Amino acid sequence: MTERLWRGCLTRRGAVRAVAGFLAGSPLVRAQQDPFRDHSRVPGLGELKTTFDFEPVAYAKLPRYTYDYTSYGADGEFTLRRNREAFDWVDLAPRSLAAGGRPVSTGVEVLGTRLEYPIMVAPSAAHAALHPEAEVATCAGCAAASNTVLISSGVASLSFDKIAASTKAPLWYQLYPSRNMDDNRKLLDVVQSSGAKAIVVTVDQQAPVFERIQHDRNLQRPPGGGGGRPAAGLNLYGVSDRRLWYEWKMFDELRAFVRLPILIKGVMTAEDARLAVEHGLNGVYVSNHGGRSVDYEESPLEVLPEVVDAVKGRVPVLVDGGFRRGADILKALALGAAAVAVCRPQRWGLAAYGGAGVQRVFEILQAEFRLAMAATGRTSIASIDGSIVRTYFP
Ligand SMILES: Cc1cc2nc3c(=O)[nH]c(=O)nc-3n(C[C@H](O)[C@H](O)[C@H](O)COP(=O)(O)O)c2cc1C
Repeated sequence: MTERLWRGCLTRRGAVRAVAGFLAGSPLVRAQQDPFRDHSRVPGLGELKTTFDFEPVAYAKLPRYTYDYTSYGADGEFTLRRNREAFDWVDLAPRSLAAGGRPVSTGVEVLGTRLEYPIMVAPSAAHAALHPEAEVATCAGCAAASNTVLISSGVASLSFDKIAASTKAPLWYQLYPSRNMDDNRKLLDVVQSSGAKAIVVTVDQQAPVFERIQHDRNLQRPPGGGGGRPAAGLNLYGVSDRRLWYEWKMFDELRAFVRLPILIKGVMTAEDARLAVEHGLNGVYVSNHGGRSVDYEESPLEVLPEVVDAVKGRVPVLVDGGFRRGADILKALALGAAAVAVCRPQRWGLAAYGGAGVQRVFEILQAEFRLAMAATGRTSIASIDGSIVRTYFP
């Protein structure tokens, strides 16, 4: 009995561990951290050579919570890692002599929108958390990088008409539909009259919980910090029911007042791609929300060939998830994508250097893509085909 009591007593070691644990999670210690601890100085834009180089600068500049909100993946982050790893399972077959010194042309038209490169900016929430000029800075960077098309998020910091008024670059609009169709109609009337060129309806993110963030677990998120942990017991699934009502007939209802091309974002199976075409949608966008929706999904690159096969050329197929290099983009086009979209590198660029950072991120991707095309002997987008890749998907 005495021995058991004695065993449960606080030891000196236990006390030190508890104090250390408290300090490690303490806002006091966090406030003492040097935000540039990984850099002796902020690198100049010209020193950043790949899109990866932007992440540590963004990390240094952002509050930890905001950085984590951009980088997290669902649960164990298997899918987040797999999205990147999949590019290692596709090899390129160089045909260095085939280009014969001819100029490489990278322009393409997708659903009536002219793209100088088949590279778009994927929709992402709340750019004001990354830079005070928010989506206006993103648009300025896009316009400067050969009019890269931004798919403006339905949960942007600024309203779509304000964003559109700030830029001459083409914009697409991403919608999270509301259950009340009148609300969608009102919103999309403004979006369409502000000049959007297409509507992308996101259907995948049903459980916007992110649990990796110690700060969020222990200390709760700061007010207005973005993201969302749904209140427990909301419904059968225990997740937010804001999006759980989605059904295919929603698209038939939206069509009644949308005169622009409609794409569905978040398709990960051939069957859904087929249904999308049957419901008259104009484009299929393969995505697993950057690994933030459900863990243990495949990567979009892996399912791309089966989706392309199911769609049979009837509508263009877009894809995103893990694109960080020009060669990644070439691989997706070789597997049948009409264009790709890039999310996190744009957020790093914006957080690190504002609009100029966004511009540089896309200029790097464009230059790398052009080089990869030349190395595989392709001089136009139409000439990119399956013969330049070998896939080793598991
Ligand atoms: C911080 C963050 C916010 C996002 N917000 C949205 C959004 O508002 N709407 C949407 O359709 N997708 C959103 N996404 C998903 C992206 O559009 C895209 O599918 C995904 O991030 C692509 O992967 P990548 O980040 O590896 O390029 C978001 C992604 C991130 C990382």
